[in-house]
Amino acid sequence: MIDLLKTRRSIRKYEDRDIEKEKIDNILKAGLLASSSKGRKPWEFLVIKDKEKLEKLSKSKPMGSFWLANAPVGIVVMANKEITTDVWIEDTAIAATLMQLEAHSLGLGLCWSQVRERNYDDSLNSEEYVRKLLNIPENYGVCCIISIGYPNEARPAYEEKDIDFTKVHYEEI
Ligand SMILES: Cc1cc2nc3c(=O)[nH]c(=O)nc-3n(C[C@H](O)[C@H](O)[C@H](O)COP(=O)(O)O)c2cc1C
Repeated sequence: MIDLLKTRRSIRKYEDRDIEKEKIDNILKAGLLASSSKGRKPWEFLVIKDKEKLEKLSKSKPMGSFWLANAPVGIVVMANKEITTDVWIEDTAIAATLMQLEAHSLGLGLCWSQVRERNYDDSLNSEEYVRKLLNIPENYGVCCIISIGYPNEARPAYEEKDIDFTKVHYEEI
């Protein structure tokens, strides 16, 4: 597991190559197996392969999501806030993280694009933009979009020296 975590990097450039359905299914399984508060599993995952939609999703904020346009697959990670009102953010973030790790273990590259608390422009937030674009119900929160594809860039793995134990405290801070 530590080796998997050290080699996981955010990848924003992808080969122009489809991802096998079995691999996408395994990534979704990882999310669906996540722990959640009270076991309520409030998440919903919207898989997007349509180039036009991915292009529009890449514009969900002024910066920081451009690469989505060239990803073969994007997964919009959402939650039905009527199922879990208070901790849907934690629940979806954990599911998204597990999906990222499964994708990485399958040799795929990925990156998280933040949606919640980001703005499309002065009058529309990114969550509303994505909701309107994909007809997502009002009672759903949108956490992020994870882009997935075969990597077309190499990023160095983390090493032992990159692991910052000064952030760890015992008994008191
Ligand atoms: C909550 C969260 C939000 C992120 N949002 C974005 C984003 O909107 N755009 C982006 O390019 N990367 C985003 N990232 C990826 C981070 O920039 C990346 O994880 C960080 O630079 C460390 O690099 P690494 O993932 O290769 O270790 C996000 C990551 C997390 C965990």
